[in-house]
Amino acid sequence: MKITVIGSGYVGLVSGACLAEVGNDVLCLDVDANKIRILNEGGIPIYEPGLEAMVKRNKEAGRLRFTTHIPDAVAHGDIQFIAVGTPPDEDGSADLQYVLAAARNIGEHMTGYKVVVDKSTVPVGTADKVRTAIGEALTARNATINFSVVSNPEFLKEGAAIDDFMKPDRIVVGVSDDQAADMMRQLYAPFQRNHERLIVMDVRSAELTKYAANAMLATRISFMNELANLAEKLGADIELVRQGIGSDPRIGYHFLYPGCGYGGSCFPKDVQALVRTAHAAGQDLKVLQAVEDANEVQKHVLAQKIIKHFGEDLSGKKIALWGLAFKPNTDDMREAPSRVLIEELFKCGATVRAYDPVAIHETQRIYGDEPRLEYAQNPMDTLEGADMLAIVTEWKEFRAPDFAAIKAKLKTPVIFDGRNLYDPTHVRAAGLSYFTIGRH
Ligand SMILES: NC(=O)c1ccc[n+]([C@@H]2O[C@H](COP(=O)([O-])OP(=O)(O)OC[C@H]3O[C@@H](n4cnc5c(N)ncnc54)[C@H](O)[C@@H]3O)[C@@H](O)[C@H]2O)c1
Repeated sequence: MKITVIGSGYVGLVSGACLAEVGNDVLCLDVDANKIRILNEGGIPIYEPGLEAMVKRNKEAGRLRFTTHIPDAVAHGDIQFIAVGTPPDEDGSADLQYVLAAARNIGEHMTGYKVVVDKSTVPVGTADKVRTAIGEALTARNATINFSVVSNPEFLKEGAAIDDFMKPDRIVVGVSDDQAADMMRQLYAPFQRNHERLIVMDVRSAELTKYAANAMLATRISFMNELANLAEKLGADIELVRQGIGSDPRIGYHFLYPGCGYGGSCFPKDVQALVRTAHAAGQDLKVLQAVEDANEVQKHVLAQKIIKHFGEDLSGKKIALWGLAFKPNTDDMREAPSRVLIEELFKCGATVRAYDPVAIHETQRIYGDEPRLEYAQNPMDTLEGADMLAIVTEWKEFRAPDFAAIKAKLKTPVIFDGRNLYDPTHVRAAGLSYFTIGRH
């Protein structure tokens, strides 16, 4: 099938590559000329495991191309995926300007039937706005051309995006006509040969499903974070509590890990956007508002533990920081808890020596020449001249360190672990003080 993907970021590029991988003819569009130049020169603008090889393979096979030329992109695909960003507006609601710009572009250039697929995470009612934007652009040209608008929210996880797209748990498709439904079925047939994974529904329900999924996951995290803080006060161990409740199949083990707050490009903005959507509809989502509030508190927990231990004046202190990305296997720094910690440490007069396997370049882009932030080459090198160690991202390479070597390198033998990576008994046996989120 001929497919255009509008927006070549984390979602657009992965979707485009995976759709090409199963034999489709895919053209990816982006307004960011630099991104398209990198892709056309054989590079890759983001870190995502397996993506570079997949892009290369499909580019060489002629099934995957990249452009900044809007008319070509609109002409190419019978299916036009909109996968542009939907960042938070000033009030937290989703900013639809990029989605609607993409829709207008389609309306201005289309010459035949198109299925326009909203893959970006968009509030309920956006498909109607997309339909109106395309309709207005057609009217302005005096053109009458049939098109369908479909909602097909994306559930991939950064860091495991290729696997998630190639072997999805489910594919949610919101449609309002049979022609579009048939095309979506045909498009996704290669991804569900083992059993049917397509869940076809109306457009509004599909739009809400995506927010509901992220809101539920964020809720589990904030719930566990609050319980972890309580466990500390009560002298209970949240890890044992986690196992105790996760074993109930109605609860399950997933997404019950307490930590120093959720971040990333999705949970924070999607939780906020759903709260705003509800507000606009005259309803308060009290649980979800609390989820967001609890997360804001949680992002400061690690800094507070450091301050409690060393006092508010951290001038002259250097903190070794393991992890910068908002989670492992990505270089995404959007809303990363590491940024909150770094800012707080700066405020207290400290400097930071940080290491992350892939997110250093992205951190450098954000912090520029910040003199209080230096970068290390590997985990042990991070400890050079450091007073203490803080951990904010659970990269695999941090899981089994040499605690004796850590103790020998740090000026004060103390670890503040925002991801509960280690057995506290083990760390303390090595002579280190160990602060966790809700363990004892
Ligand atoms: N990142 C994730 O893990 C994830 C997962 C599921 C859903 N989503 C949703 O998918 C959407 C995209 O997220 P992302 O992380 O890929 O964003 P991103 O910022 O990485 O990529 C968006 C891209 O769209 C481009 N763009 C903007 N306007 C454009 C236009 N008019 N025409 C062509 N290109 C345009 C930008 O230049 C950018 O490269 C968001 O709505 C997000 O909430 C993201």
